[in-house]
Amino acid sequence: MSVYLGPQLTIVLGDAASTKDAFLKQGDAFSGRPDNPIIEAIIKEIMTDYDTTSYNHGLVLSTGKLWKEQRKFALAKLREFGMGKVSLELKIKEEISILLVAIKATNGEPFDLQPLITTSVCNVICNIMWGNRFDHDDEQFKILMKALNDEFINFVSTGLLNFLPWLRHIPPYRKLMQDIIRNERLIFEVLKKNRDLHVENFDADNIRDFTDAYHNEIQIEKQKGCETTFKDDELLYVVWDLFLAGTETTSTTMRWAMLFMLKHQDVCRKVQAEIDDIIGRGRLPNMADANKMPFTEATIMEIQRLGNIVPLGAVHATSEESRKCNLEVNTIPDGECVWGESRPKMELFLFFTVFCRTSTLATDGVLEPSSFE
Ligand code: HEM
Repeated sequence: MSVYLGPQLTIVLGDAASTKDAFLKQGDAFSGRPDNPIIEAIIKEIMTDYDTTSYNHGLVLSTGKLWKEQRKFALAKLREFGMGKVSLELKIKEEISILLVAIKATNGEPFDLQPLITTSVCNVICNIMWGNRFDHDDEQFKILMKALNDEFINFVSTGLLNFLPWLRHIPPYRKLMQDIIRNERLIFEVLKKNRDLHVENFDADNIRDFTDAYHNEIQIEKQKGCETTFKDDELLYVVWDLFLAGTETTSTTMRWAMLFMLKHQDVCRKVQAEIDDIIGRGRLPNMADANKMPFTEATIMEIQRLGNIVPLGAVHATSEESRKCNLEVNTIPDGECVWGESRPKMELFLFFTVFCRTSTLATDGVLEPSSFE
């Protein structure tokens, strides 16, 4: 189906066959991103000393050579610093233990789970990016968390602006843009501070984390003397994208998980029975347990399907090559928008199983925080 969103022709792939065809079989041709006038306007405001002529930065909204190079590097380094490995599993478990202590400290009083979960999830990313974690009551970190959360909510409301960018000068969008820019400044200050600290203490023989590895790559590229997309300021966009893409998505899915378990207590009890059977009460779960827990795995997948937190995925754009590409249905012209799907994570399994095991669901559907252990 195709539809004009403002002046932009947008093609919606509405069935599995054409989505597979576009994003799997012809991935390269459909890996572009459309122009994003709002991101461009924000970048111009916050990064006055960097290349502000383009929105083409970071991982999520970037395209072409920059996207390919940054994505390849980021994937390799995320793996090197733990993604999918036991080392990261241990870090996640450490965060879970600290989270449970924080929940227990609420002493049965009502509390908001959201900031606690987001802090834990964000700390996992902090660990990979900067090699450190922050305490739940660290004031600086609380400000960063709130800004991240607000940005996620604010960005959702900018959808229309991408198609009618002039609206950003008119209320209520003017206020929305001011809020976004204020938060972005705040976040970039924190990112810059951490980058600069890393650069000051950089030792090529001791690469501690993602930021060190990126700085090292900049030096290697400099020595080669060739044109490169690896730059000090590009690192800020890459790290920011990993925070944004990896924090809210996972923590929101976990909150959906809690809600669905409250609503479907019969399912929760089955998950608890499987946990008791495979993991027991004496230790934290391992990823190795997941294969033996089909009901729990299926429940997590169903939570992701129902929670549907990124319903339209990120908008893709066709690139030069796809001019010649035919999907089963028709040919998609160069530069047009295309929409697609998402995936599960290690964090979800570990957090979910611990939450299900340690919480008691009262018959009225209330989660009893005093039962967290
Ligand atoms: C439940 C958790 C998550 C969900 C539902 C989710 C969902 C998505 C979706 C729908 C996209 C757009 C894919 C597309 O372009 O079609 C995406 C992209 C991306 N996600 Fe996630 N994500 C999750 C967790 C994470 C985590 C933990 C990280 C990293 C630490 C991450 C990093 C990224 C990055 C870097 C991209 C851009 C990839 C690219 O354009 O090449 N995500 N994610």
